[in-house]
Amino acid sequence: MKYLLVGTGNISRTYIGAIANIPGSEVVGCVSRSGRRPAVAPDMPCWPTITAAASAIDFDAVILTTPNGLHHEGATEAAALGKHVLTEKPLDITLSNMDRMIAACEAAGVTLATAYQRRTNPDNLAIKRLMEAGAFGRVYAADLAAKFWRDQAYYDSGAYRGGWALDGGGPFIQQACHNIDYYLWLFGMPDKVVSELGTFAHDIETEDHGAALLRYANGMIGTIIGSTAARPGFAARLEVHCERGSFVTLDDRIVTWEIDGIPNPANTTDIYDDKGASSAAVADTSRHEAILRDLEEAVRDGRPPLVTPQQARQTTELILRIYGRS
Ligand SMILES: NC(=O)c1ccc[n+]([C@@H]2O[C@H](COP(=O)([O-])OP(=O)(O)OC[C@H]3O[C@@H](n4cnc5c(N)ncnc54)[C@H](OP(=O)(O)O)[C@@H]3O)[C@@H](O)[C@H]2O)c1
Repeated sequence: MKYLLVGTGNISRTYIGAIANIPGSEVVGCVSRSGRRPAVAPDMPCWPTITAAASAIDFDAVILTTPNGLHHEGATEAAALGKHVLTEKPLDITLSNMDRMIAACEAAGVTLATAYQRRTNPDNLAIKRLMEAGAFGRVYAADLAAKFWRDQAYYDSGAYRGGWALDGGGPFIQQACHNIDYYLWLFGMPDKVVSELGTFAHDIETEDHGAALLRYANGMIGTIIGSTAARPGFAARLEVHCERGSFVTLDDRIVTWEIDGIPNPANTTDIYDDKGASSAAVADTSRHEAILRDLEEAVRDGRPPLVTPQQARQTTELILRIYGRS
């Protein structure tokens, strides 16, 4: 597949590394308003808009790595040109933006995928399969602690960071959205959500710490903590308690498995590097590579991507409910 990289900041490096590992695929150019090329590809052809790039070169798909609240603009522009779309997470930051981009891609008949790459981690996939098979019995409780650390320099590195207008919130939508996406993939949308948010360690507009209490129609009680004020940053922890026992994951790896009758499915050979608790850089490109390969297969086979548009929409929707902004 030929990709156009839209946005050339921090995460663009991860895509360039991931695509280099996929035989037959390449990045053919990039889009930047300022003309800044990716740091690792200073000679990459560059245009100010997707439309300008399309009039000069051929490509199959765009990868949107612009700020969160601009993803709908890139998606609708690309869809109008008949290009497939892989957007960075979150899908976007408002229900109306997300509905517009989903409708544009549906109308154009192009695939819309979202980079919630944590879903592709092997232990997460194994747990998801068992959950779908009903292997855990009734789930009573699921507690997610996404307690990360970002320093003030991180928020100062972009005028939009930590603002409602383009980031769409603090740690819940920017960092913990990955873990919340996985939580929703396992358990679906709760009936009731109450939350408390605060700003403690940063000079930013949005929350830098918060906690939510969830109640499901089947009675399950959930908790989600999202933070970038928890120095030095902790591995995301998911604890699940159910009829058959309990399991715990740390950074998507199973660390406790006490489920009656089911052997621990932890994968011990697929080693990946996760420093997300304290850094915005994604050095391990393997999970983005899995998302790109899934997109390519989805396009080829005419099936939905691993992260469907409606699922990605639901993740932002729950976060908006936590924010009291839906
Ligand atoms: N999946 C993951 O693990 C992961 C990790 C990090 C980030 N992300 C996501 O990737 C996206 C980009 O994050 P990043 O850290 O790479 O951001 P970044 O370093 O700030 O880069 C943003 C890019 O967007 C362009 N841009 C276009 N309009 C802009 C505007 N109005 N304000 C600011 N920049 C604008 C900028 O270039 P020009 O100004 O030249 O146009 C720049 O190339 C976000 O959606 C973020 O949530 C995902």
